[in-house]
Amino acid sequence: MDSIRVLVTGAAGQIAYSLLSSIATGEVFGKEQPVELVLLDIPPMMKALEGVVMELQDCALPLLNDVVATCDEAVAFANIDAAMLVGAMPRREGMERKDLLLANVKIFKSQGAALDKYAKKTVKVIVVGNPANTNALICKKYAPSIPAANFSAMTRLDQNRAQAQLASRLSVPVNAVQNVVIWGNHSSTQYPDARHATAEVNGVTQRVHDAVKDDAWLHNDFIKCIQQRGAAVIQARKLSSAMSAAKAIGDHMRDWWFGAGDRWVSMAVTSDGNPYGVPEGLIFSFPVTVGADKQWKIVEGLNINDFAREKIELTAKELAEERDMALEACTD
Ligand code: NAI
Repeated sequence: MDSIRVLVTGAAGQIAYSLLSSIATGEVFGKEQPVELVLLDIPPMMKALEGVVMELQDCALPLLNDVVATCDEAVAFANIDAAMLVGAMPRREGMERKDLLLANVKIFKSQGAALDKYAKKTVKVIVVGNPANTNALICKKYAPSIPAANFSAMTRLDQNRAQAQLASRLSVPVNAVQNVVIWGNHSSTQYPDARHATAEVNGVTQRVHDAVKDDAWLHNDFIKCIQQRGAAVIQARKLSSAMSAAKAIGDHMRDWWFGAGDRWVSMAVTSDGNPYGVPEGLIFSFPVTVGADKQWKIVEGLNINDFAREKIELTAKELAEERDMALEACTD
């Protein structure tokens, strides 16, 4: 089987450190699929990246056909089949949200242009570096020759967190819980929605709502817990989520690559204005199904009550503001 070429940016960072071996052991693209890993980081990180390359070599991984470490986008984006855009400008103390957004616009404008110029037109792109949704929007804008459907941002970590919290509450294995939805931005305005979720409890599949029997918890503490989970990990670990983020990147890409069957997964993808009234063009997290043809489709026809409507509008408003700020910066 021919190798596929997989780019990971921010390759000397902490998420990449957990992610690279899972790609190279076949957990993402399959146990038969040889891979070439392309590692991009910035020039000051090249020495550290050398160490990562040495470790990958020392893992003696049969599926790993080649490793390229570079700080040159023309090399990194050439002929890639999948792009995991993890590297981003981190938020430093005292930095305004706007400054962070503007620093990232520069990075993702440049990487979008590099995708357009050098990548395969079938490339599947997942943006992880924050603000992930808006970074993906900018990246897509500068890669007009690649279908918009090939761009996504990651909310799978939020989905995994939500699924795990519900499973824990019901004392069932995590896979017994299905169809939790993350709507909107990968930020504290996201709406983790358990209204359509089901759980298998004692062999019987039922609505999570009926199994939990605690609306107050589902409407308040559950939602807040997921919205604030990233901050809670930082507070405890003094570093942001990395192992769980890497696992979620693998889950997102594997489901995109192979299809997710009848499971719903949450992916931030381009809104076409339908079916939930989210402004067209925003990269917004929706419940999607993914076919074996690698095409995602937004799950339609879900009931949106007033509570849900308000939450979806709030996170859409935040994303529209981010988009406006980012697009304004693009004209500079
Ligand atoms: P990290 O700081 O350990 O690593 C980031 C790496 O990106 C660094 O090595 C840095 O040099 C590199 N980098 C910066 N600019 C770059 C550029 N222009 N090209 C290539 N590489 C570049 O950070 P960590 O923990 O690995 O997180 C990475 C990003 O992922 C952060 O923005 C973080 O906020 C985000 N994140 C997103 C999550 C999500 O669910 N969407 C979850 C967790 C983290």
